[in-house]
Amino acid sequence: MIKRSFLTFVTFLLMTISASYAGDWSKIKIGTEGAYPPWNGTNAAGELEGAEIDLVRDLCARMNAECELVAQDWDGIIHTSMKHDLYVLSDEIYEDYYLEDWPKEILAYGYEKSIITKSFSKSFAMTGFRIGYAIAEPSIIEKMSKLQALSLTNVSEPIQYAALEALKADTSGNTEIIKSRLEVLVKIAKDIGLEFIEPDGAMYLFAKTKYKNFDATKFSEKLLEHGVAIAPGEGFGDYKEFFRITAIDETRLKEGMIILDTVLKESYE
Ligand SMILES: Cc1ncc(COP(=O)(O)O)c(C=O)c1O
Repeated sequence: MIKRSFLTFVTFLLMTISASYAGDWSKIKIGTEGAYPPWNGTNAAGELEGAEIDLVRDLCARMNAECELVAQDWDGIIHTSMKHDLYVLSDEIYEDYYLEDWPKEILAYGYEKSIITKSFSKSFAMTGFRIGYAIAEPSIIEKMSKLQALSLTNVSEPIQYAALEALKADTSGNTEIIKSRLEVLVKIAKDIGLEFIEPDGAMYLFAKTKYKNFDATKFSEKLLEHGVAIAPGEGFGDYKEFFRITAIDETRLKEGMIILDTVLKESYE
């Protein structure tokens, strides 16, 4: 069987942090860089906000820790982790779909408690294959493998071989495709008056409308009746007014956005 390690990373992070640090949590800094706009942003008061940040806050609360959030400060994250002997988990699944320069590689710090997670579902367009991998020191991988074997068993072997083949592929074309789809989505969303922060990567738009007390969950359900699927913001945290649109292929995206606009106007104007 191909050696691999794929598991519920957050749970693992929580467990490893808990296991490795039993001291005073009050001064711990936890770094996060939200992947979805506007989740990696700051609010009007200059505070960090976003679904991933909520997740980190939740983790801190569960650990009874007072956490200080650090935005995109890799040096700060690594140095604090080294000082407190913490693990650093860097989810780099969108590395190929990031439109800016990728920040310094976590591995470049040479910190032995770093863990990088990657998936085939984005760069290799293999969503649904349920396969990804982690890069870490062998001793860490060994522990992850034990946990994974007990919780998930393993990714089926045919899929592991498919992923091995995929590794030989040049995926730069996928990067270009996703970039152009996102551009199309951003343009249409602007044209129909959605409100959002322009994404700097990935293939999603997290948007809201100009309507007050807009219920994105009800709207998503209604859109489904018209054959269009969007993800209600509620699924990502306290974002009842927001919804997430995925940038699919241009033809279907345009069709879907026309339906979205029509249903929106019919329902709220
Ligand atoms: C930031 C991020 N990390 C990890 C994942 C997990 O990807 P998968 O389960 O498809 O491998 C996703 C999926 O959308 C994601 O958005």
